[in-house]
Amino acid sequence: MNRRALIAAPLALAACSGPPVAEAQVDIPPLKSVAPFPLGVAAMTEQFDDSAWGEVVGTHFDRVTPEWEMKAEAFAREDGTYDFSRADRLVGRATGRGLSVFGHTIVWYTQAPAFLQRLTGDRRAFEEAYGRYVRTVAGRYRGRVVAWDVVNEPVLDDGQGYRTRHAFHEALGIDYVRLAFEHAREADPAAVLFLNDYNLEQLPKKRRDFLRLAESLLKAGAPLGGLGTQTHVPADLPVGAMDETLRDLASLGLPIHVSEVDISANRARGRHEPERVAAEIVDAFQGLPERLRWGVTIWGARHGDSWLNRGEEKNPLRPDRPLLFDDQGRPTSTAAAFVRALTT
Ligand code: XIL
Repeated sequence: MNRRALIAAPLALAACSGPPVAEAQVDIPPLKSVAPFPLGVAAMTEQFDDSAWGEVVGTHFDRVTPEWEMKAEAFAREDGTYDFSRADRLVGRATGRGLSVFGHTIVWYTQAPAFLQRLTGDRRAFEEAYGRYVRTVAGRYRGRVVAWDVVNEPVLDDGQGYRTRHAFHEALGIDYVRLAFEHAREADPAAVLFLNDYNLEQLPKKRRDFLRLAESLLKAGAPLGGLGTQTHVPADLPVGAMDETLRDLASLGLPIHVSEVDISANRARGRHEPERVAAEIVDAFQGLPERLRWGVTIWGARHGDSWLNRGEEKNPLRPDRPLLFDDQGRPTSTAAAFVRALTT
């Protein structure tokens, strides 16, 4: 058992059973002042009107990833026109506060615009409209985003290869991935272009298929600039899983973005050790060669901001505690563990 696990064990025993205990209050330095890499946070426009949220994000983070506003459902109209007002508003609020913006996400199997779905039976028409779609989105934020998740979640969970049952693959086959990167690069020559997916630390076969896709993109000369591993993990993530995952992902020599971190108590089936998991995420990331450490993004500021406490993910009987700050904006023991890992 590694030293992190030894440190966490007593903490876990104290917290692993019964109703959530009041979280220990801790004091930490600004996270971005101790992180030797850009530290991002997921954001939605209305949160910028919440001064308590703004205080946490302004103090601790360098960058925001829009949780929703830069997804097709937020800007692509049925008739093929666009309403970028929501995304523009978020970009404006973020840059107005000196925060950089990570674009998320242009092509996601769950959100193929209706005007493209209608064309899946005509490859030529689809390909032409698809290219125009990618160039429109990437081109609009040229110079205003530092990077894009160009394609999100292209791989199946079950180790059976790529997702195929969606409009992009139905129309173009797996070529939809390469084409998205090529059109995004044509529209934005500077943004770092990422391939992003989840469960890569929990499903080795999925990670294998993800790497296979990335390698095929590189061989085809696609402008793949980095790999994103979402890192939505349970608070009992097996010891060593993060280190093995990031080492594996680093094998292609591309920068790594740990892109959507949350450490779920509710998804944990075993011993609840968020402090150990947070420390392992940092250790694994810091174990990468510096040129591959692109950044870490936490998928929300305060527990109550987490998608795991909203909609279908929400457990009304037991709010999750997956983030680094509590609902009063105070740093948690997980945040303290995150800082310890950064500074020791
Ligand atoms: C989630 C957002 O957090 C929610 O607010 C939204 O309702 C659904 O999408 N992987 C992703 C993210 O890449 O875009 C998802 O974000 C979470 C899973």
